[in-house]
Amino acid sequence: MLVSAKDMLQKAKAGHYAVGHFNINNLEWAKSVLLTAEECKSPVILGVSEGAGKYMTGYKTIVGMVNGMLEELHITVPVALHLDHGSYEGCLKCIEAGFSSVMFDGSHYPIEENVAKTKELVALCAEKGISLEAEVGSIGGEEDGVIGAGECADPNECKMIADLGVDFLAAGIGNIHGKYPANWQGLSFETLDAIQQLTGTLPLVLHGGTGIPEDMIKKAISLGVSKINVNTECQLAFAEATRKYIEAGKDLEGKGFDPRKLLKPGADAISATVKEKMELFGSIGKAE
Ligand code: 13P
Repeated sequence: MLVSAKDMLQKAKAGHYAVGHFNINNLEWAKSVLLTAEECKSPVILGVSEGAGKYMTGYKTIVGMVNGMLEELHITVPVALHLDHGSYEGCLKCIEAGFSSVMFDGSHYPIEENVAKTKELVALCAEKGISLEAEVGSIGGEEDGVIGAGECADPNECKMIADLGVDFLAAGIGNIHGKYPANWQGLSFETLDAIQQLTGTLPLVLHGGTGIPEDMIKKAISLGVSKINVNTECQLAFAEATRKYIEAGKDLEGKGFDPRKLLKPGADAISATVKEKMELFGSIGKAE
């Protein structure tokens, strides 16, 4: 059964590790992430952007697929199905469809409007036992058409949103979706520290997990980050493994064109990436 991400992230914050949020795109993605989480005895969050939701034909399809996998694959670790960077309407749709967690990204609104909309969703989610992530200060780069400038959040605004009763908070600290440019300044630990001072035990979320050096990830966890989002890195691993398979002519050998064979190297590459991240984030064995 899908669970809210609230408990798993509170435990992670208290235990000084982070739970990985991995964006999914299709059956191979969901299956690889779930089987790896089970193998690693790690809690996990499956992230679905609005674009990926459309691609997979709608939120109900995803809920059906993931719930089916939990049962058929005998998944025992805690799994949350989470809307990533949702609009207000997207959150309502996912709550209705059976997601166990949603993110409302109101970072592009003036803070008053972000507060007002987040507040409404806090009440709705609490009623249904669904966890809610909010965002202050946009995350840089582009993800599924959501473009952010990569700013550092105002810690006082973070406190305003935290005080509404959200379950975890994403705050911009110079992080960017996708690959980091060569001249990237790195994460602003000063900002992160200031945010944690004001938000206390609230789990913080680090978006743009792809390409952040390991020492920065560890430092971010030590400063209160309990959820780390990874998307591009799984996509790159999938594409590279699939390219190698085709370039080696494997699809032309025997029944190598069978999608179950053709997509396997990519699916295995996603699993390897997820495992590597779980090791780095310290979540392995935490679901035992
Ligand atoms: P990356 O694509 O940079 O890993 O970011 C993922 C993310 O933050 C999803 O919200």
